[in-house]
Amino acid sequence: MEPTASEYISSLKDDVAIFYPVVQINIAHAIMLAERGIISADEASAILRALLSLYRGGLSKLDLRPELEDIHMAVEEFVIREIGEDIGGKLHTAKSRNDQVSTAIKLALRQKLLDLEEQLLKLVKALLAQAERNVDTIMPGYTHLQIAEPTTFGHHLLAYCSAFLRDIERVEQAYELTNSCPMGSCAFAGTSFPIDRVRVARLLGFGRVDENTMDAVSSRDFAVQSMGAAAIIMVNLSRLAEEISIWSSVEFSLVEIPDEFASTSSIMPQKKNPVIAEMARAKAARAIGNLAGGLSLLKALPQAYNLDLQELTPMLWDSIEETMNSLKVMEKLITGMKPKKDLMLARAERGFSIATELAASLVKHAGLPFRKAHSIVGRMISLAIEGNRTAKELTLEDLKKASREVIGREITMEQSEFEKALDVENCIASRNVIGAPGPKAIKRQLTALKQKIKTHQQLLRAWRRAVVGSEEKLLKEAEGRVQ
Ligand code: ARG
Repeated sequence: MEPTASEYISSLKDDVAIFYPVVQINIAHAIMLAERGIISADEASAILRALLSLYRGGLSKLDLRPELEDIHMAVEEFVIREIGEDIGGKLHTAKSRNDQVSTAIKLALRQKLLDLEEQLLKLVKALLAQAERNVDTIMPGYTHLQIAEPTTFGHHLLAYCSAFLRDIERVEQAYELTNSCPMGSCAFAGTSFPIDRVRVARLLGFGRVDENTMDAVSSRDFAVQSMGAAAIIMVNLSRLAEEISIWSSVEFSLVEIPDEFASTSSIMPQKKNPVIAEMARAKAARAIGNLAGGLSLLKALPQAYNLDLQELTPMLWDSIEETMNSLKVMEKLITGMKPKKDLMLARAERGFSIATELAASLVKHAGLPFRKAHSIVGRMISLAIEGNRTAKELTLEDLKKASREVIGREITMEQSEFEKALDVENCIASRNVIGAPGPKAIKRQLTALKQKIKTHQQLLRAWRRAVVGSEEKLLKEAEGRVQ
């Protein structure tokens, strides 16, 4: 059915996410109006009683007909319905839907960013636990999706821990930029009423007020920053999802996915499809789409408030919700996946993955410049491939032959050094520069990661306490004014 004009512009459906924030803002505003003598204590009492009953009764108390346009009108109408227009009609003094909606989005987003950070921390812990179980699990490392050098499954998973820890920092940065209060900006040019913007900001637990009233009502860069953080999280997650799909394929066969995270085919009885990983990959596209949508909407939008801004909010919630859901499911998949250790080791020994280490060994033990060592090992491998031989079948004689061809003389190297260089376990054991897969380096990474997780958890707890504390204080303050 064709929408009416008021249905077309109504945001009521999407405003559900900001219902409580809008009521809280009205409560804080009414308290401030009374404190500044803009309304009387009696008037504040009646208004606050109505708002508190709405807060406790919930959304179902509101009449959400589309002619009301949005939740801001619906809340005001509720108060007027409860206590009459003579007093209820004073609630909207010195505020506008423009400053109110921006403030409400920020309040709701603040909460969601904390939830997102908590979920990211759970994901990092799941990766860390799986990594710790596999610090010795040797696997092939790839560049260009070709076997490059051996590494461990633990090291590979810790790469994602590093990426998601940066995501956590991005979410924290988004939180800090979101934590400033637009209230009191009114339509965009403030007001001549003697309001106290700082007081309202404090009552709502914001860290500060927005400095410029025009910017406060018309900016949504805080929102696209969060959408950006969500999109980057999803891009990182999609890379992991893609790898899990690859690893679980018959061709790679490096990882077993638990049955509940795979689905079968309606026609091919043998199939075990990595559908959860595929969906996470797809949800990344959605988060990127939302981000592109938000940026497109803001681009070239004149100051100050334009109704275009309303259309951005559901994209924001969609990005956060889909990211949360993806993180939750992927956390379980990460915990449940099982590396096929024997096959991982066998694959790590394929593709001449020890070539780099052998060249390094030539530098260390035969005194050659690296570039020459690289050429000699390259030649040796060409000869092996021509002779249809694997890395395991290489001999010191092959290396000497290659060196005669490449540098015109035979290198000297001990048989034991040669064998050591060919051994993938030894290769891993010797990689102990900061961040590498060797045991000492991994120990250091694990310690650093755990420390970082702790620091973020502490910050998260402090922020949560502040948010919950300010909500409780606000309600108490309001109750204290109801006679
Ligand atoms: N529903 C609007 C939004 O979500 C609230 C502000 C509307 N302001 C206005 N002047 N029409 O952005």
